[in-house]
Amino acid sequence: MELLPPHLKLKILSSLGQQIDDVVSPNAPMEISEVIQLSKLQESKLNFFTAEDLQNLQGKGYIVKEGLLQTKDKVRAVWDSILQLEKDGILKPAGMQNSNHKWKQSGIRGDKMAFITSMEMKNTAALDEVSRAMDALKTELNESVDFQCSKVSIQAAVYPGGGSRYVKHLDSCKGGPRRRLTVLFYPNIDWKEGDGGELRLYLPVRKRTTKQGEKVDAGLEGKMSEASQKAEVVDVKPTGNKVVVFLSDCVEHEVLKSNEKRAALTMWLC
Ligand code: OGA
Ligand code: NI
Repeated sequence: MELLPPHLKLKILSSLGQQIDDVVSPNAPMEISEVIQLSKLQESKLNFFTAEDLQNLQGKGYIVKEGLLQTKDKVRAVWDSILQLEKDGILKPAGMQNSNHKWKQSGIRGDKMAFITSMEMKNTAALDEVSRAMDALKTELNESVDFQCSKVSIQAAVYPGGGSRYVKHLDSCKGGPRRRLTVLFYPNIDWKEGDGGELRLYLPVRKRTTKQGEKVDAGLEGKMSEASQKAEVVDVKPTGNKVVVFLSDCVEHEVLKSNEKRAALTMWLC
């Protein structure tokens, strides 16, 4: 069973009446990868990020920042524009893929999405402004730590509520796009406790090499204990005007069940 691709596993388990939650089996935490070259940091080039942010991003695998846009009205305008895209039928039910398979199953991934590339999306003033603000984050990384990123994609997504979710996954994997950073922006200006849809991050661990050349968990001597096999988990509330950045290839994450409509913009830096 463990060897099956997730969609087949889900089909078999659901036909046996098993909960989808059981499909997301706990596994050992990922090992952190070097994505931000801190040795190249030029602090004078920073604007939205601080040096500490970039140290945390590389050290822990993620950061959370508030206030990408200047005013609440601008955040609400982004929310309205994304909902308009949904009304206009531009957002489509999302699929999932790995190197061999593509599939759609709303129990695994319940959002509707589209990439912000088409003219009609760029023509929306609020989306144009927020995608520029997100693009400026890429420029800031290019200039401050020589990130050398030219390829960017931005996705708009709406989770319709009613328990819609996106199960634990990685944004970058073998056979898929080589994404280095995931940058999320939430426009959910009216989000409140109980609405659900939190972003759950499974933090990677730092490994170091022993004298024997054997990799062990940073905090432990000798063999890994049971506890060290569990990834530390952080839940982020998807409140309006928040930015979350994480390392795409080693931070597993999921969108918890959303009881209300919930929107997100995701920018991937390749
Ligand atoms: C994704 C994703 C998280 C979110 O689209 O890959 O994980 O909080 N989104 O919307
Ligand atoms: Ni993701």
